[in-house]
Amino acid sequence: MQYGYFDEKAREYVITNPNTPAPWANYLGSPDYGAIVTQNAGGYSFVKSGAAGRILRYVFNQFDEPGRYIYLRDEENGDFWSASWKPVAKPLEEYKTETRHGTSYTEIISEYSGIRSKALYYVPMGATHEVWRISVENLTDKPRKIAVFGYAELTTESFYTQDLVNMQYTQFITKTEFHDNFILEQINEFNYPRPDGTTGRERFFGLAGAPVTSYTGRREQFLGRNRFDRPQSVLDGKCDNSLNYNANPCGALQFEFTLGPGEKKTAAFLLGQKTVFEAEKIMKRYENTEKTVDHELQELITYWHGELANLKICTPDKKFDAMVNTWNAFQCFTTFVWSRAASLIYCGERNGYGYRDTVQDIQGIMHLDPELARKQLTFMLSAQVHHGAGLPLVKYSHNAGHENTPDDDSYVKETGHPSYRADDALWLFPTVYKYIAETGNTAYLDEEIPFADKDTGSVREHLKRAINFSMTHLGPHGMPAGLHADWNDCLVLGSQGESTFVAFQLYYALNIMKEFCENEPEYVKYLDDTAKKLLKVLNEKCFEGDQFIRGFRDTGDIIGSKNDKEAATWLNPQSWAVISRAATKDQANAVMETINRKLNTPYGLELMQPSYRYAYFEGARMRLFNPGTKENAGIFCQTQGWAILAEALLGHGDRAFQYFSESSPASFNDDADRRVIEPYVHGQFIEGHESPFAGRSHVHWLTGTASTVMVGCVEGILGLRPTAKGIEISPAIPAEWDGFTMEKVFRGKKLHITVNNLAHKQGKPEKYILNGKERDAGLILESELTEDNKIVVVM
Ligand code: GLC
Repeated sequence: MQYGYFDEKAREYVITNPNTPAPWANYLGSPDYGAIVTQNAGGYSFVKSGAAGRILRYVFNQFDEPGRYIYLRDEENGDFWSASWKPVAKPLEEYKTETRHGTSYTEIISEYSGIRSKALYYVPMGATHEVWRISVENLTDKPRKIAVFGYAELTTESFYTQDLVNMQYTQFITKTEFHDNFILEQINEFNYPRPDGTTGRERFFGLAGAPVTSYTGRREQFLGRNRFDRPQSVLDGKCDNSLNYNANPCGALQFEFTLGPGEKKTAAFLLGQKTVFEAEKIMKRYENTEKTVDHELQELITYWHGELANLKICTPDKKFDAMVNTWNAFQCFTTFVWSRAASLIYCGERNGYGYRDTVQDIQGIMHLDPELARKQLTFMLSAQVHHGAGLPLVKYSHNAGHENTPDDDSYVKETGHPSYRADDALWLFPTVYKYIAETGNTAYLDEEIPFADKDTGSVREHLKRAINFSMTHLGPHGMPAGLHADWNDCLVLGSQGESTFVAFQLYYALNIMKEFCENEPEYVKYLDDTAKKLLKVLNEKCFEGDQFIRGFRDTGDIIGSKNDKEAATWLNPQSWAVISRAATKDQANAVMETINRKLNTPYGLELMQPSYRYAYFEGARMRLFNPGTKENAGIFCQTQGWAILAEALLGHGDRAFQYFSESSPASFNDDADRRVIEPYVHGQFIEGHESPFAGRSHVHWLTGTASTVMVGCVEGILGLRPTAKGIEISPAIPAEWDGFTMEKVFRGKKLHITVNNLAHKQGKPEKYILNGKERDAGLILESELTEDNKIVVVM
């Protein structure tokens, strides 16, 4: 079934049937003030941390409740409904609604009983409060008397878990007050500011653009003995002007008005963690509600559409375009900003950035905003330990040069991360490379950045130490040891087990470093010798004719040998053999055929096959997951991006696009009940063929899938492959496409690219026509480009 569609002109996903198989969410705000909102207005808000700065209560994994509720009541007959379909949930035959999730705002437009309402939710640019603008329009030819109620369920405590489980304390530390047009919640009113100087003790819920006619600050009073679909105050037509003392706080405000035929009225509810003084100032700003809101919304749209503007494609596949132009790109910014902090799955308890996750996330926005990417990349380099490894968890409060590391008990105790991962710092190589390639800023390699614990060094030095970390942690075959984990969090190989995936990553890193250290012949020789040695081991010990093994256990036993009963063929070593350029052409073709034969399903490639059931070993922790799930032979979506890229690098456009389509959210737009989560965002994994729910996806929004699939599409399928010197355009597309166009801004220069595929090839273009001049396909030097370029790529 289909619940909505992509409106690419507006860059919105429009949900037309709100009864979706799961809450379909959007992100508002920034890490200073974040909010998640669903098509039924469910979701929560927080200051800085979803776990430690929670303002709005939300009960996970239940009924998508509570939310930012706006109720409307016909004062003549007492009938009432909500501006979002739920919580009141009038029959959908009578209640017409659409939710427009846009770039950092959501608008829910509904019509019921001749009244049209528009609830717009957003956090203004740079602000730390949120706005729920409500406009109500009378579509009938009679005057209508309407009452509007806004409801915000405030937490009793900023610590979300305390709010939910320690009521013997939290219910007795808050009370609410009514000030002119807003409810103020006080927490620990008579307490001193916290040690960090913040108070975080006052929140407000206010109404601008209309006078409040009744209010309550007490949840029990608003709801009575009912639930959100029939709040007592709404049934009664007014709140009782009561306040909270020793129970559950809330903000509930009512206003009413009469609308003549065709007349419209607009007001705005406002919410934030603010003192009385700050709240009053914010309220004032919205006195002229429509004007302020229009301006703020426009500001958001201008900013976000600007962020997405560096690449715009137009291909024969509109779903592909919607993902690349808008939704995958917006998701990449979301993961870039929020890491794995807060969603409807994560609640903000992970108090920092995962090293590999974040270094990967940075790649997802590189083609759109490389300078923003650089800031976070520099931050992550400063979280590299002096011996080259990445800190497994980089605290939000990270203080470069002064951090403890997994070598210190205090770090282990504080973060729960006992040791290093084999791969973390190796993700820096593709990320630094992509930054330099997108910008041409090779001077970045000389930028001095401190290490996490002690020492400082240039970016180049950081990378050298990353290589050194791998080289000082080799296993018995001379391949990188698997340590606490490699990319696969469930594979614990220790200091004697070895990982082929990391070996390919290291091989890739060694070759990139050859480019970065051109002026150091001795070091280049070392890199070259090391790479050759590594390649020899990979070929002699890890290649089985049509696949690479996954590695070695600490016992020396092979993991992922083709005749194994379980976990015999693994996806990542094959795709990375190609991406790292370690595989010869024949090897590459052979291993990619193998994964197609053994791992592919209608919903993407499984991570390995068959799943672990009985023949596992101690370090194979994925055995805990049900077969076909997550790392135990699920379709781990991040890895699809690498498979897409690998096929594209080989010029196999049909396969690359097939892998994209199989697991792309948009492909499920008309089969949304199968996928369950949003058809406009990637999830962490899809259940594989061994699950009775094959095709169902999980863990929406905050996942590494966003960045790798983005890279797979941009560098792979679209073939936009910059290097330090310029850019190569080498699309790998379905043979049936006649061609497509791309508008790309590259180092400030405009590239209008037309790909002509009348030859119906899959990849490896024949020639370019660059500003009217024909030339061979290949690298276009930056110096060959003018401010505005017409490039025809002839396949
Ligand atoms: C999760 C983790 C990521 C890891 C992956 C595979 O997505 O966030 O770091 O690489 O699982 O185990």
